[in-house]
Amino acid sequence: MRWYLGFTYVAALMGIAPGSQAADAAVYQDAETGFTFSQYSVQYALGKNLIFRIAVPSPVPAGSAYDTVLQVVAPADVGWAGLAWGGKMTNNPLTVAWASGNTPVISSRYATGHVMPSPYTGASYGRFKTGNRVNGTHWQYTVKCSGCTTFTGDGRTTTLNPKGGNRLAFAYSSSRPSSPSSNTSSFNVHDSFNYWTHDFATAGNTAFASLVARNLA
Ligand code: HEM
Repeated sequence: MRWYLGFTYVAALMGIAPGSQAADAAVYQDAETGFTFSQYSVQYALGKNLIFRIAVPSPVPAGSAYDTVLQVVAPADVGWAGLAWGGKMTNNPLTVAWASGNTPVISSRYATGHVMPSPYTGASYGRFKTGNRVNGTHWQYTVKCSGCTTFTGDGRTTTLNPKGGNRLAFAYSSSRPSSPSSNTSSFNVHDSFNYWTHDFATAGNTAFASLVARNLA
């Protein structure tokens, strides 16, 4: 089953007035890692949400490449969850993740069509010592990404705006990858996907570099 959870449809079911979507966005202070994240809670199935948190350095000079810290919280029934940095499946970095035993596994991917995304070396991930866990109700990961905010695709190079809104997308599957301990595992197509505008303006961290140094494994 594949769902496209259009906001109006979901909002109508939940009795939410159109325009109240901003309630899903928040600033989250993470005591565990020390980062300030801009958070977005996105519905992947009725009544179930994935949380995406993004932190960026502040300031970032206009037009320059910059690292991000990504923290994702997924309910235990999420087989894999992906983030598309360019807001669509194709021609942008995809951060795909799942739980393997007690460990979240992060897989860097890129797709040029609506087929299984290939491993992608244009983005690299640094695992944090903290902020990674798998328990009975949720799994969570926290990583530094180099290469997620500047990428080439569709014949151009795109850099996400560190001071504004960026259109992102997610995909969710209830089924687990076939070889969960490997970050090059195959996995099945998503059950749902959707888009949102993530506010990077509230994601700035003046102490970004020192916080990264303190947290990197
Ligand atoms: C086995 C892996 C995958 C397959 C076979 C697959 C296949 C497809 C197909 C056929 C569509 C067309 C729309 C539809 O018919 O529902 C689609 C759309 C989409 N997929 Fe995937 N997909 C895969 C993995 C991913 C991953 C890892 C992401 C990461 C975020 C993703 C994000 C999206 C998004 C956002 C759309 C909406 C249309 C678009 O942006 O192009 N997909 N996918």
